[in-house]
Amino acid sequence: MMRERVVRIEGEPKSNEIREKAARLIAKGHKTYTPTQAVIERAKGVYLWTVDGAKLLDFSSGVLVANLGHNNDYFEMKFQEYCREVPRNAYNMFTPLEIRAAERLIESLNSPKLQRVIWAASGSEGVIKAIWCAQHRYPDRPIMLATRGGFHGKKGLAGDVTGESSPNPNVRFISFPMCDYCDEVDPKDKGKEEVCRPKYEAELEELKRRYPGKICLLITEPYLGAKGSFHPPKWYLQLLNRWCEENDVVFILDEIQSCHGRTGEMYAFQKYGVQPDIIVLGKGIGNGEPVCAVVGRDDLIDSLDYGEGSDTFSGNPRACAAILATLDTFEKFPILENCRRASKVMEEGLNSLREEFDFVKFVRGEGLVWGVEMESDEIANEAVLRCYLQYKSGGLGLHMMGPLAGKVLRVAPPLVITEDEVRTGIELMRRAFREIERNRG
Ligand SMILES: Cc1ncc(COP(=O)(O)O)c(C=O)c1O
Repeated sequence: MMRERVVRIEGEPKSNEIREKAARLIAKGHKTYTPTQAVIERAKGVYLWTVDGAKLLDFSSGVLVANLGHNNDYFEMKFQEYCREVPRNAYNMFTPLEIRAAERLIESLNSPKLQRVIWAASGSEGVIKAIWCAQHRYPDRPIMLATRGGFHGKKGLAGDVTGESSPNPNVRFISFPMCDYCDEVDPKDKGKEEVCRPKYEAELEELKRRYPGKICLLITEPYLGAKGSFHPPKWYLQLLNRWCEENDVVFILDEIQSCHGRTGEMYAFQKYGVQPDIIVLGKGIGNGEPVCAVVGRDDLIDSLDYGEGSDTFSGNPRACAAILATLDTFEKFPILENCRRASKVMEEGLNSLREEFDFVKFVRGEGLVWGVEMESDEIANEAVLRCYLQYKSGGLGLHMMGPLAGKVLRVAPPLVITEDEVRTGIELMRRAFREIERNRG
């Protein structure tokens, strides 16, 4: 598919100028491809305004970071309060704020295993630190297991456990359920435990046979996000969890994307009924401030000695302030309840699109994280662009990130979206899809 370096949209002079400057000044590799290259000047709640004054409903949450919405008044007030007079420090001192953030986070996780924190400044760094902890704890076990098709970040070890193959000779992949693509079982049996479980058990047992006493960790996500939104049956994650417990393998759950309400529960591990040894939290944990936390068993987190997990920005006071302000906002407002209500409307609405349009192939999701799989990359990209351009006819456009895995539209609005706003978003998608249909003749 042709991916232009600079998108030009008629009637958007200011945006076009910035898009051109961006192409001169900022690395192409710094952004993922989005057919709109939206230039956003201002944001509030679930709305964005472009520099040319177009108003957009945000179905991306800025790539799932702004769970509480943009410029949430309560969050911003608390954030400023916590930030007042804090030092600009790194790893050379403690602040009361840091200790409070760790305490509150551990309280909110409410799991006997998740008792100690190591901070990171981005999701992939958090994953790397989680892996280091397991490796330092069990230095004589070189093998790392990861679920195939997962995304844990692009850097170093996080990149090594991402995808379907790895440059790291110690990484082995195991299958993750992707029921829509599965033709091994009868359609009526897809995802059924009694039918599917033996396949996954056999894979795990085979790895145990091949690497006795050598498997250090297993890392997975509650659902495959970047791969196109594949949400497994609960029994699958529980199977991995139990197998890890029985075989003394560190179970690392990457909740960088799913944490802080995305699935309708504060944490996905609560919804899926698992107890990770280490959890990695990112994105929504600071409502968009750059912060990540790795929380785990004492013996694992403590296996790193002084300085072995430190870096300049991890756990700085502003990051800790953001964690506290986010938790305060979840405590004060019924955000999870809102997410669950909006989720039902979203599910119905997206399924109505699947029924109406042949080119919508699958709808998958939970909470407020959905994937709409289109027939092709071209149609998916055209859909993103046409959704955005709706502002030209009705006054409101729809902002979505570039498709996942080529052709899956990611639908993930802030968790504060109302049911009516979800309906509005679905209608914008419907109008855009009707244009695609008309164009196809
Ligand atoms: C599940 C998951 N893990 C890891 C990452 C990597 O996080 P970061 O981009 O902050 O390094 C992401 C980011 O999208 C993610 O969704």
